[in-house]
Amino acid sequence: MSELNRDFLWGIASDACQGEGAWNEGGKGPSLHDVLTPGSKGVVRKATYRNILTNETGAESIHFDPEGRNLVLPDNCVLDVLDNVYYPSHEATDFYHHYKEDISLMAEMGLKLYRTSFNWARVFPNGDDEFPNEEGLKFYDDVLDELLRNGIEPMITLYHMDIPLNVINKYGGWKNKEVIDMFVRYAKILIERYKDKVRYWLAFNEINCDEMMPFYYLGLVNNSRNDIFNGIHNHFVAAAKIKEFVKEINRKYDKQIMLGQMIAGDPIYYYTCDPKDILHVISYKHRYFDFYSDVQLLGEYPRSIKRFFESEGITIDASEEELELIRNNTLDYIGFSCYGGITLTSDPKKAEATGGNIFSGVKNPYLTYTDWGWANDPTCLRIALNQLYDHYHKPLFIVENGLGTYDKISEDGKIHDDYRIEYLKSTFQGIKDAINVDGVDVRGYTLWGGIDIVSAETGQMSKRYGLVYVDKDNEGNGSLDRCRKDSFFWMKDYIKSNN
Ligand code: BG6
Repeated sequence: MSELNRDFLWGIASDACQGEGAWNEGGKGPSLHDVLTPGSKGVVRKATYRNILTNETGAESIHFDPEGRNLVLPDNCVLDVLDNVYYPSHEATDFYHHYKEDISLMAEMGLKLYRTSFNWARVFPNGDDEFPNEEGLKFYDDVLDELLRNGIEPMITLYHMDIPLNVINKYGGWKNKEVIDMFVRYAKILIERYKDKVRYWLAFNEINCDEMMPFYYLGLVNNSRNDIFNGIHNHFVAAAKIKEFVKEINRKYDKQIMLGQMIAGDPIYYYTCDPKDILHVISYKHRYFDFYSDVQLLGEYPRSIKRFFESEGITIDASEEELELIRNNTLDYIGFSCYGGITLTSDPKKAEATGGNIFSGVKNPYLTYTDWGWANDPTCLRIALNQLYDHYHKPLFIVENGLGTYDKISEDGKIHDDYRIEYLKSTFQGIKDAINVDGVDVRGYTLWGGIDIVSAETGQMSKRYGLVYVDKDNEGNGSLDRCRKDSFFWMKDYIKSNN
């Protein structure tokens, strides 16, 4: 049985498009997040575009329609960065220029793991360039060296919603099979270059959100439902090809590099014990959760999704060779995000609707909800850890979790975030219990946005998860100064007393 001991990796997490900034510095090309305007609770974000014939510009809302589209652009329009528009990701919280300071704050807390993503467009500005951008790679060299110098192990996501704009505009995003090899080339360059520095890689962030968010996760615009499932299949093929390469590198250089699956792993709760609710949850889980993990961890398309494709008339362009590749290259571990249980009912009229991380449901009477409508649910992790381990028996990393809420600077200039400390106390107890009582193989935990970042859903700064406050507001004003919240000191003590 595993135990929460010295080997357990405590850390924080972030990603390039919400933290890195420097969107057009160091040779980086524009990517998806660079055309997103801010929203707020209940106000969706928009993507900006330009008409290639008339040069007219505009912005279109991102939302889900019954055809399975997130973004519908007028004819002859491509995504483009416009003048005089505020884009939260352009500067984000400027990790690009603050990485030394941020890493030293991590070290001060005694953290041992930092999960972040590399931006495809920093390495290949257009996605399909002949040569990688050395200046972009040099930045990642420096970040990794700084982490390792501080005794912090990097965990790198290869793709966190940051597809180069050119790959969307010219190739139509992930529905196009040409994108697979473009992406695999990028991944191979990184894995080879960093074979002595990075042990843990994650393929696609929250791959099980591809269907629900085809624009963000697959770079699809004006798509059909068929495009979505072909894009998902292309993600599976790309991840399997990368895994095949990881095995080659491990053999050749005697390494133990691991490629993980990353899913949105919020547990699903039944609203009532009505058998209809139970059946509803089973089919929801089949479609939005098990499908992805069965393919990536067990190597097979499950029967439930095959039946779903048949009944919906969805056809996947999958060759025998690709299916074989997927079968022979299952991923090594599960990294998952978990923010709070999603409560579902077969009859939505029974309860009040609420939001959550991508998947929304109804309000659970046993939980409280944040100002953004996400469940405040510290027990969710222990539940998710057990369910995932029971099903797949693979090592687990919690790579996103936290409480996204408002923080206020008090008169003494400090941030007294006792609500976050309370949340973390019970959450960490849940992880300990999953390990020590339930015997789940959990290897590490990274708190999402441990140094404040821009929210993905709304583009706001005011939805904060961090232990460190970054001085920046929703309109982009602020000094970017970092300030330790009370939770920073609590975390530091917690790690010390648990090591
Ligand atoms: C996950 C994403 O869906 O949720 C992150 O992987 C995101 O990128 C996180 O930031 C929290 O969402 P939000 O909208 O609060 O930033």
